[in-house]
Amino acid sequence: MEAAPVIHEFEAVIVGAGGAGLYAALELARDGVQTAVLTKLYPTRSHTGAAQGGICAALGNQEEDHWEWHMFDTVKGGDYLVDQDAAEILAREAIETVIELEHLGLPFNRTADGRIDQRRFGGHTRNFGEAPVRRACYAADRTGHMILQTLYQQCIKHDVRFFDEYHVVDLLVEDGVSRGVVAYRLADSSLHVFRSKAVLLATGGFGRMFRITSNAHTLTGDGVALAYRRGIPLQDMEFYQFHPTGLAGLGVLLSEAARGEGGILLNGKGERFMERYAPTLMDLAPRDVVSRAIYQEIRAGRGVDGKDYVYLDVHHLGRAVIDEKLPDITDFARIYQGVEPYTQPVGIQPTAHYAMGGIPTDVHSRVVVDERNTVLPGLYAAGECACVSVHGANRLGTNSLLDILVFGRRAGLDMARFAREADIPDLPSDPVGPVATELEALRSRREGESPAKIRRELADVMMDDVSVFRTADTLRHAQGVVDGLRERYRWVRVRDGGAHFNQDLLEAREVGYQLDVAQVTVAAALARQESRGAHYREDFPERDDASWLKHSLACRVDGAPELRYKPVTITRFTPKPRTY
Ligand code: FUM
Repeated sequence: MEAAPVIHEFEAVIVGAGGAGLYAALELARDGVQTAVLTKLYPTRSHTGAAQGGICAALGNQEEDHWEWHMFDTVKGGDYLVDQDAAEILAREAIETVIELEHLGLPFNRTADGRIDQRRFGGHTRNFGEAPVRRACYAADRTGHMILQTLYQQCIKHDVRFFDEYHVVDLLVEDGVSRGVVAYRLADSSLHVFRSKAVLLATGGFGRMFRITSNAHTLTGDGVALAYRRGIPLQDMEFYQFHPTGLAGLGVLLSEAARGEGGILLNGKGERFMERYAPTLMDLAPRDVVSRAIYQEIRAGRGVDGKDYVYLDVHHLGRAVIDEKLPDITDFARIYQGVEPYTQPVGIQPTAHYAMGGIPTDVHSRVVVDERNTVLPGLYAAGECACVSVHGANRLGTNSLLDILVFGRRAGLDMARFAREADIPDLPSDPVGPVATELEALRSRREGESPAKIRRELADVMMDDVSVFRTADTLRHAQGVVDGLRERYRWVRVRDGGAHFNQDLLEAREVGYQLDVAQVTVAAALARQESRGAHYREDFPERDDASWLKHSLACRVDGAPELRYKPVTITRFTPKPRTY
């Protein structure tokens, strides 16, 4: 017989200990709200720590800059699918957010006169697109790492309660109200119910559904899939970003900061090919433009030795700049490729990096459940798992660290308000019943499919058919394969039947989440018959505002995604053709 679940009660529960979760926790703790943070890792191993190049804010420390320019770049970079009310908040609040981070102790690189230094990044321009501007604040090429350490220290200082290595395995939503979550404790397989007034999902992205990715092994779409299974639609899932410079063959991120500092891309013939694709911004065009250009060079046989990668060259920056500003990524090149960036170019290829889509929210990070933006009381989402729609069809580099902090903080503030006003909700009659049955079926099955095999086949088909270039044929093929894998997943088995640190069991469950988000991604991509931002359909190569200037919402109906649409919020910037 299963042991009874352990019941906990908190005013607020946060799932995920990356930047969004930690900033929300800090705001709640400062307001005296009793808060628990549940994380499937040790907090400082969260994927925010892998973000390298910077966090943008129009501080104007190096040259003239304005939040309106930042907002414009964000909207244009997102190919006008951005909700402009949210983008305005992002660009305006960037300034106070970065200054608060500085006051919390973040060790930013400095200018000669002691202010926060700033560097260039793709798509960030002065005066509405004229030329690159220095907007990214940074701590060498480990900005995310520093943010994570700074916020974790602050949370500890403010007595936030952490539950490390607790995997959230179900959301408790009943009668349209969030009531808490169910978590599985890795150490001993016990199930824990966290009853709570307010729940924040801050579980990050799902790049592991692709073969070549910059994402950590843990980025498997848990929060996104759990929300979808509980009837919450997923927004704009067809838009998945490939970062232009992953280490060739591995996908490990080599920060855009390398190009921000003056690094250049070269094809196999030694040509600076971005001149042909983005004559104004060149190597600092937005990521969708640069990734497509790299693929086009490779397709034309101009990859290095005709292979599927090109070069990133930083040697001309000199040792001082490389050592002070790009130390980690140049070490990655030495360690994984055996090349010396002081003197040699580094092989790179686009790598699956970031989901623009996710759980729809309003600007207070409250989850919304339909085309009318109806709020689900008590449920919040922030960071990469959420879609407040500041990135639209393509995110600009450094807007992700900004997004997690601006909207993580807003989540914390609104959760504190909600916790003051709401009563603690009743729990469903058998809160762990459904998930306990699923976990037991997985654990006890003796015959069946290997989850690792299913995961590999999924990553292959997503990489080959649903990446930078797509067509109806590739997407239909992917759809068939994903459906087949979902069928096989019903009979998946784990090898470890034990109760202690059963990582095997949780990894099998994570494959199920990846299959859900992949199914939605493919369905939304197949439906959208235009090209916009990171979603490039070779059979529909033009952007089509008349038919497609709208957000997709994928709802789960009879186990499959059904697509609905809602309008984009446009306030200041009318959609225009995008040139760089
Ligand atoms: O290139 C980078 O440093 C990544 C930054 C980002 O994704 O925002």
